[in-house]
Amino acid sequence: MSMYGPFPVLSAEEVASGIQHGQTVSFSGFSPAGAAKAVPEALAAHARAQHALGKPFKIRVMTGASSGHSIDEDLASAEAISWRAPYQTGKALRKQINAQQVEYVDMHLSHLPQMVAWGFLGEVDLAVIEATDITPDGRVYLSTSIGASPTYLKYAKKVVVELNRRQSPRLAEMADIIVMPPPPHRNPIPIMDPLTRIGCPYAVVDPAKVMGIVENDAPDTVQNFDEPDAICETIGSHVTAFLLKEMACGRIPKSFLPLQAGVGNLANGVMAAIGSTPEIPNFLMYSEVFQDSLVDLMEQERLLGASATSLTVTTEKLKRIVDHIDFFGPRIVLRPQEISNHPGVIRRLGVIAINTALEVDIYGNVNSSHLFGTDIMNGIGGSGEFTRNSYLSIFITPSIAKGGKISCVVPFCPHIDNNEHSVQVVVTEQGLADLRGLGPLQRARKLIDHCAHPAYQDILNRYVKESRNGHIRHDLLKCFELHRNLLEKGTMLPEGS
Ligand code: COA
Repeated sequence: MSMYGPFPVLSAEEVASGIQHGQTVSFSGFSPAGAAKAVPEALAAHARAQHALGKPFKIRVMTGASSGHSIDEDLASAEAISWRAPYQTGKALRKQINAQQVEYVDMHLSHLPQMVAWGFLGEVDLAVIEATDITPDGRVYLSTSIGASPTYLKYAKKVVVELNRRQSPRLAEMADIIVMPPPPHRNPIPIMDPLTRIGCPYAVVDPAKVMGIVENDAPDTVQNFDEPDAICETIGSHVTAFLLKEMACGRIPKSFLPLQAGVGNLANGVMAAIGSTPEIPNFLMYSEVFQDSLVDLMEQERLLGASATSLTVTTEKLKRIVDHIDFFGPRIVLRPQEISNHPGVIRRLGVIAINTALEVDIYGNVNSSHLFGTDIMNGIGGSGEFTRNSYLSIFITPSIAKGGKISCVVPFCPHIDNNEHSVQVVVTEQGLADLRGLGPLQRARKLIDHCAHPAYQDILNRYVKESRNGHIRHDLLKCFELHRNLLEKGTMLPEGS
């Protein structure tokens, strides 16, 4: 058997065949960045083989957030997942979750490590962690994401390290890793600036529980973003005009405040718009994922530095970072998700958060995760942690979806991820509603006038007018009428409109 230092070199198939039906396996990966690849792929084949023999085979799967193709698509398509936490974005997995074939725990991402540490999610039988190196004394140099891997390395009963030969060992120069002790032994987290470093560049594992290493050279499967369309550009221009107004009023200092941007096409496009507005000063980010548009902004020295937990960038952008690591290395800090998304740090730094909604209601409640209140899209991700704790919490969404059949401003959201108490500003291509300091009725007027699509404004105004009076006006028989129309007739618009 060949060895890597004191650790046996195993095949992915050997590892997969040792995993038992019903076990809990934690994989590295925060988004596709740094996701374990070889073992989950082999595990999907193993599951199919077991099913062909008529044997049950499903495991409980944890990652940092969403994950790569080999987990949320391949493993899911092999019907090998029974339970999944804390976030996902896979089409195959989404379908199974919505059919109640997979139990899905949709969580605030900074909560995950302590939930694992305290055993709320059960014992972790095996952790499979992608890294660029492991030393004989158990230092693990992670690849393109940190996520929850340090916690999995600490608490899993057994560990397999997927050594990814493609990824540069110099990625470790960006890593800043600590694992928080349990309360009441937690000191303040001394992050005073997005680039403050408080840990070390490696995670730690007890070498005695490392079963071996698996060699792997597959790239992360990060999708290209769509080019920003006119709607995205208009939303971007509303956001930048608002930020400039806030600066002019002295509510954002001249040195600016750290930005956080959510996941997806829209957030990526809005970041590009902010970067190309010269009146906005060069800025820092305290965010969760480092996405494609930020590579360009950093090269242009518009983005001065960024804290994140993953480098969720396409292969071409990752190559640019690695080829110029002397430039990017000191400007990017990759932290465990319990620190990148930590409420206390977000509040201290005065972050400006920009996240994406599927729909907002007229009072400012936001749904980012469940269509019709029933069907999961992705999950809450880090949006709750940033929205609740930021200095300024902004949500962006087009005013309509599916060619106008859906209004993204509705009387009441049938699922709420971020509520009216945390959401301060809503932006669509129609305009911007600054909800700070407004009571419910004023919020409704502002949201309908500034953000709703004209095709839906009368419907929403009528809803407010005809609803039962109270601090918040609602009509419990009609508050989901638009959603019912959509389910029954394929459009939210009432007949005849
Ligand atoms: N009802 C039904 N469908 C809707 C909708 C609504 N109100 N609003 C949008 N959609 C559809 C769109 O038409 C699109 O459908 P398609 O895939 O068939 O084209 C789909 O939902 C998503 O739109 P997309 O353009 O992919 O949006 P996005 O890439 O900007 O992502 C979210 C938007 C909300 C799905 C995504 O940001 C998300 O999952 N957020 C939650 C987690 C989060 O905020 N994380 C960041 C924290 S750091």
